[in-house]
Amino acid sequence: MKFAITGKGGVGKTTLTALLAQAYADNGRDVLAVDADPSPCLAGALGFPDELRQKLKPISEMDELIFERTGARPGTVGGFFTLNPQVDDIPERFSVRHRDVRMLEMGAVDLGGSGCICPESAMLKTLFTHLLFRKDDILLLDMYAGVEHLGRATVDFVDAMLVVVEPTRRSLGTAAQIKKLAADIGLTRLWLVGNKVRNESEAAFLEAETPGLPVLGYLTANLAVQEADRLGIAVYDYVPELRSAAQKMAADLEELLSNI
Ligand SMILES: Nc1ncnc2c1ncn2[C@@H]1O[C@H](COP(=O)(O)OP(=O)(O)OP(=O)(O)O)[C@@H](O)[C@H]1O
Ligand SMILES: [Mg+2]
Repeated sequence: MKFAITGKGGVGKTTLTALLAQAYADNGRDVLAVDADPSPCLAGALGFPDELRQKLKPISEMDELIFERTGARPGTVGGFFTLNPQVDDIPERFSVRHRDVRMLEMGAVDLGGSGCICPESAMLKTLFTHLLFRKDDILLLDMYAGVEHLGRATVDFVDAMLVVVEPTRRSLGTAAQIKKLAADIGLTRLWLVGNKVRNESEAAFLEAETPGLPVLGYLTANLAVQEADRLGIAVYDYVPELRSAAQKMAADLEELLSNI
């Protein structure tokens, strides 16, 4: 199963990705979690120890590798480079495993078709498509904020897109935009995850204002989430309430997708 986690900036995409990754791994699943954010922080949310985090580097910043595979230096414009570089060895070579979650940092990926035609984007697009074609048991893509990256490649192959929202109109506005874009490109399996919900009235607000998307579940607002970040401990370990919520969502998602 392949999931893309999207939503407005700061709503909790990385927190949710880390929680689901560990929940599936603890269930014996083979998990690859991909950080596709220009400023990666998924490894921190997963509680990767420092020595493993040091081994992680976004593929987008691997200038030598990009040169070796595309035939051109990152940042060059014009000239020739291959649009279809070899990438099949990259997930194994550059991913790092901790507690049965394998993690790969990609860096910023522009998948929407806009943006530059340059070696690094050719490399990342090819890698992204490769990841979507692979037969990973569970692939979780922690996308960066906003909607502009939602190109065809994303939706053709993901089984579900999870849209994280807070109980604010602004984050619901982004969710509505994501829903529209997803509909434009034919992805219908979208679920909303409400995060930082403090009480029933906030949950009711989300339900009432949701842009017509089914709610998969809620994560309550809990100051221990930030505390976990400061301590370098995975939210999954530090906040039992959120761990249980994530375990339930992981199971519900499987159930929902098996019925489609
Ligand atoms: N349930 C929660 N309760 C309290 N704080 C939370 C909760 N979920 C996330 N946070 C906090 O909100 C902030 C943003 O969370 P996170 O990094 O997961 O969001 P994001 O959507 O991935 O952000 P970005 O768009 O920057 O990638 C972090 O400081 C995190 O600790
Ligand atoms: Mg994030």
